[in-house]
Amino acid sequence: MDRLSRREVIKTFALGTAISNVIGNSWAALLLLDFKALSHIQAGILQVKLSDFPELNTAGGSVRIGTSPIVRRSSEDTGPVGIFHPVIINRAATDFFVLHAECSHAGCTVARMNSQGIMQCPCHGSQYAADGSVRQGPALQPLRRLNYTQADGVLEIQLPDVFYEIKVERVAPSSPSSRVHLSFIGFANLTYEVYFRSSLDGPLERASFSTTPDGPLSQTELPGADDFSHVYLERPGTAGFFQVTMKTAAV
Ligand code: FES
Repeated sequence: MDRLSRREVIKTFALGTAISNVIGNSWAALLLLDFKALSHIQAGILQVKLSDFPELNTAGGSVRIGTSPIVRRSSEDTGPVGIFHPVIINRAATDFFVLHAECSHAGCTVARMNSQGIMQCPCHGSQYAADGSVRQGPALQPLRRLNYTQADGVLEIQLPDVFYEIKVERVAPSSPSSRVHLSFIGFANLTYEVYFRSSLDGPLERASFSTTPDGPLSQTELPGADDFSHVYLERPGTAGFFQVTMKTAAV
C-alpha cells in the first residue's frame, strides 16, 4: 500500500461518531438497547488546526490536504491513489478559500496555489485563481467551494460527498465480554484510526483495538480494503463517543 510520506501525518479526517448515551447507567446493562440506535450515516468533516500549517498564517499561502498520495499515471491522469481527492485551502486577506482539488475539466488533481496565485492542473493546463474561478481553460467551471467554519484556530470543512456509516455493537450480547465491535467501510489506500472521548467536550484519546473479537488490543491503525472494516475494543467506560478517522497529510 502506498503510504502518506510527504510530511508527517498531522491531522485526522473525522468520518463519523458512534454515540453511546448510557450516562449514569451500567454500560453492560444498557448496551443492547442503546446500540440499536448506533448506526449513523454522516458526512465527512476535515478538521484542520491552523497552527499545523504556517502557510495559512499569511495571505497567499496555500496547502493541499488529502488522505492518500497523489500520483501521475499518465499525461491524462493525475490523481490520488485512494478514493478521495484532496482539499486545497488558500489563505485570503482575512479568511480562506476552501476548494475541492478535482479539476472541473476531466477530473485530474489540481496543484495547490503557487506564489503567482495560480492553481494549475497538470493534465491539460487549466488554471484556477485563489477563489477557484477559471483563469485559463480548457476547464469551463470553477473548482467546487466547500463550506467551512472556523473556531479556536480550527477549520472544520464539510465534505458533502463523503458519506459514511459507522456501526457499533456489543461483541456478543450473551457473553460477559466487555468488548465492543465497530464496523465501517474502509477504502483501499487509506488508513483508519479510532478515537474515544467520554464527553462531548472531553479530549479525544486514540484507542487500541484488535481486528478479531478476542485478539490482543495492540493495533492503533488499520488499512482499508474496499470492504467493511471491523475493529474490537475494550469498552472504555460507562458513557462516551467513538470516532473513526482517516489519516490525512499535506500531499
Ligand atoms: S483535467 Fe484538468 S485541465 Fe484537463
